[in-house]
Amino acid sequence: MIEESKLNSALQFLDTCPEAEDIMARGVESGTLLEFSRRFRALGVEPVGAVEIGTFRGRSTYFLSQMVSPEIVYTIEALRENYDYACWFLGRHTTNTKIYFGDSVDVLPRLLQHAVYNIAFIDGLHNCTRALPEYLMLERFIKRPGLIIFHDVSYVAAEGKVDGGVPRAVEMLGDLEIEGDKAYKVVT
Ligand SMILES: C[S@@+](CC[C@H](N)C(=O)[O-])C[C@H]1O[C@@H](n2cnc3c(N)ncnc32)[C@H](O)[C@@H]1O
Repeated sequence: MIEESKLNSALQFLDTCPEAEDIMARGVESGTLLEFSRRFRALGVEPVGAVEIGTFRGRSTYFLSQMVSPEIVYTIEALRENYDYACWFLGRHTTNTKIYFGDSVDVLPRLLQHAVYNIAFIDGLHNCTRALPEYLMLERFIKRPGLIIFHDVSYVAAEGKVDGGVPRAVEMLGDLEIEGDKAYKVVT
């Protein structure tokens, strides 16, 4: 079972490591990361792995890596400079992360042929036409029971203005539980 003390240590590391400012700029805040772990623990199963869309510089990836250790976190990043930074940061501080460069719509179908996961975190391009298929692909292959989490569901990001963004994707799916800036679905 995931140990709370291990996760608190992970957060402490993220907030105090020399790279803290670089990885935080657009990263998920600590409270939200802890909520993920509590939600997952409520399922009463062991983590078998995680898939994340939107690595940025590796903050949430690092936390997930501690959460699922020794299992693997697969994470996808579309911007080369973020990918390069995340490879450096996660390469120094983790042993169970696999980082993929590219657009989620290209990478996910290949990745999901072999990735084993019961946690999925969607935090990439914040528009509806991207977030919705990401969710559907992740839901199809997730091990049951599994937890899928959307971040940033409480506002429409600039890139989502054309189609209603992540809030629209969550509304179309209809059966997610919304809490603050997150939406959760337990897939059974
Ligand atoms: C909000 S940031 C992710 C923050 C990260 N989860 C954390 O907490 O540290 C979103 C990231 O998604 C990446 N991104 C945007 N579109 C993407 C796509 N289609 N596929 C994969 N990554 C994408 C962006 O380059 C950016 O680094």
